[in-house]
Amino acid sequence: MGHHIQILPVDLCCSIAESQTVLDAALADGLMLKHSCRTGTCGSCKGRVLSGEVDHADSPWDVLSEQERAQGMALFCCARARSDLVIEAPEVTELRGISIQQMGTRVASIDKVSHDVAVVRLMLAPGATFNYLPGQYLQVLLKDGSRRAYSMATCTPRDNQVELHIRHMQGGVFSGHVFNALQPKAILRVEGPFGSFYLRDNERPMIFLASGTGFAPIQALLEQLQAQGNRRPVYLYWGGRQRADLYRHEHLLALEAQLPWLRYTPVLSEPGPACDWQGATGFVHRQVLSDFKSLKEFDVYACGAPIVVNSALRDYVAELDLDADCFYADAFV
Ligand SMILES: Cc1cc2nc3c(=O)[nH]c(=O)nc-3n(C[C@H](O)[C@H](O)[C@H](O)COP(=O)(O)OP(=O)(O)OC[C@H]3O[C@@H](n4cnc5c(N)ncnc54)[C@H](O)[C@@H]3O)c2cc1C
Ligand code: FES
Repeated sequence: MGHHIQILPVDLCCSIAESQTVLDAALADGLMLKHSCRTGTCGSCKGRVLSGEVDHADSPWDVLSEQERAQGMALFCCARARSDLVIEAPEVTELRGISIQQMGTRVASIDKVSHDVAVVRLMLAPGATFNYLPGQYLQVLLKDGSRRAYSMATCTPRDNQVELHIRHMQGGVFSGHVFNALQPKAILRVEGPFGSFYLRDNERPMIFLASGTGFAPIQALLEQLQAQGNRRPVYLYWGGRQRADLYRHEHLLALEAQLPWLRYTPVLSEPGPACDWQGATGFVHRQVLSDFKSLKEFDVYACGAPIVVNSALRDYVAELDLDADCFYADAFV
């Protein structure tokens, strides 16, 4: 039996089936609630159930505590409706012209751009359209029913292809397959787009913070800003362990020289003597703490390793007066 959800404070409604999560029901009706991982890991979809009953399903206890459940909080990517609901969601966007779809794609190319990063381009079926907001991600559907999330690295499909930057995780099932076996022309089934990592339209200056392949959605945002003739200042910080991890470093230096609004700061945590690194060193999120006295007027977009994203939110709010509502992130959990 289906139920009805009223979403406050925006006062929009959607219907929900027994088997759907609150997030999936909203997305299916064209309403995007704030979310990232969709697996109950990152906590970004947390909101309040004002009335009605939910089943928290497999919401992990370390992400949604007993106390939070008692206070009516829920992870909307896990919770299912057991009655009509009224919920309070922090940010709701109407998805105009964007619908979540499953589709078959063909691997067009695989370029290993560093020892553990491959740029993979997926060819959409002829005539297929795939609309997404720059910064969003897709999920690759594996044969065992599991999924792997990867951000689109261009602001729209280019030549009918979607670009992904895939990091080889030690022992990782899918990324191991990409590095060791995947060949051009192979078919990959994907679903998307997902995620609320997209640019908010305002005049505030921005910090873009990326670690490793967290650069993929940032590249899409930079392309979008270029296409829009942007003037908002953007301070891009990209961190890796060694020089080779910054696989688009030269491109970014050229872009910085060309775009008056872009300032690029690469940061290496373990440069080593061999690469003769003259730039910033240490943890990438800490470089922002050295360079700014306040982020009160800023929006921050952060992507990549969870430790970087979580430390950035904590430290920028505590030490640089950042408004936590102006922090947008995809932690690569
Ligand atoms: C919103 C979002 C966007 C993302 N975008 C990108 C992107 O653009 N680029 C990118 O590179 N990554 C991205 N990620 C991260 C990416 O989805 C994961 O790295 C990916 O799922 C890894 O898949 P895998 O099959 O290679 O590894 P998995 O097989 O899922 O394993 C992941 C890690 O866990 C370890 N592991 C697995 N099982 C166990 C176990 N039982 N015990 C202990 N350890 C275990 C593995 O050794 C490995 O290190 C994103 C993640 C999210 C949530
Ligand atoms: S916990 Fe729900 S989107 Fe990550």
